[in-house]
Amino acid sequence: MSKISMKPTNDYCPQTLFLYGTYNEDGKADFGLFCWFSYTWDGELGVMACIGGSKRTLDNIHREKVFSASLVTEKLLPLSAYLGNTDGNDPAKMEGLNLEIEKGQVLPVPVLAASPVTYELEVKQFLSLHDGEVMLCAIRNVLQDEMLAGENASSTEKLAEIAPVKTTCNRYFSWKGENLGAWGEPMAKLSK
Ligand SMILES: Cc1cc2nc3c(=O)[nH]c(=O)nc-3n(C[C@H](O)[C@H](O)[C@H](O)COP(=O)(O)O)c2cc1C
Repeated sequence: MSKISMKPTNDYCPQTLFLYGTYNEDGKADFGLFCWFSYTWDGELGVMACIGGSKRTLDNIHREKVFSASLVTEKLLPLSAYLGNTDGNDPAKMEGLNLEIEKGQVLPVPVLAASPVTYELEVKQFLSLHDGEVMLCAIRNVLQDEMLAGENASSTEKLAEIAPVKTTCNRYFSWKGENLGAWGEPMAKLSK
């Protein structure tokens, strides 16, 4: 295979998407969409996450040191695209969304009831960069839909059922690889 050199890009390297949930200072929940998320090992499984620039989510995490990360599925895509394209410093961002928000079972974090998998994360280390921040997190709890723990379906069937969304090349893709639209598009299906 002959290859050509490129400037830094993650095109053609699909990523999983998560909604990070945090509480604002007034106790209201804020959610944003994130993909720079992966795992670490230090005697147990952990999470590493990068946030670029200044964001409401980052301000909240600096203050609280905890957040939730909920897996984005096809059902959640219009909402997720909206939450990834709307600034949390706009006081109207979270208004009129009709979300079922629960509290974490271990940490004081807002959790989206409609996501089948949510991590409750505690930041153990902030690595401050020039225009971004990497957070190394302990996984304090994993909330999974009961259906995923059941033994009457294979992992292949369960993944097809929850349909996690992937992203690369500025687009969303279904678990099976179908095009679900450019980053800005699915939010048009959200009634707000
Ligand atoms: C597909 C997609 C993935 C994103 N991933 C990240 C990410 O990993 N890190 C980041 O800093 N911003 C990311 N963003 C941008 C945030 O979602 C956006 O800044 C959002 O406003 C954050 O929510 P907040 O303003 O309520 O904090 C992404 C946006 C999209 C559309």
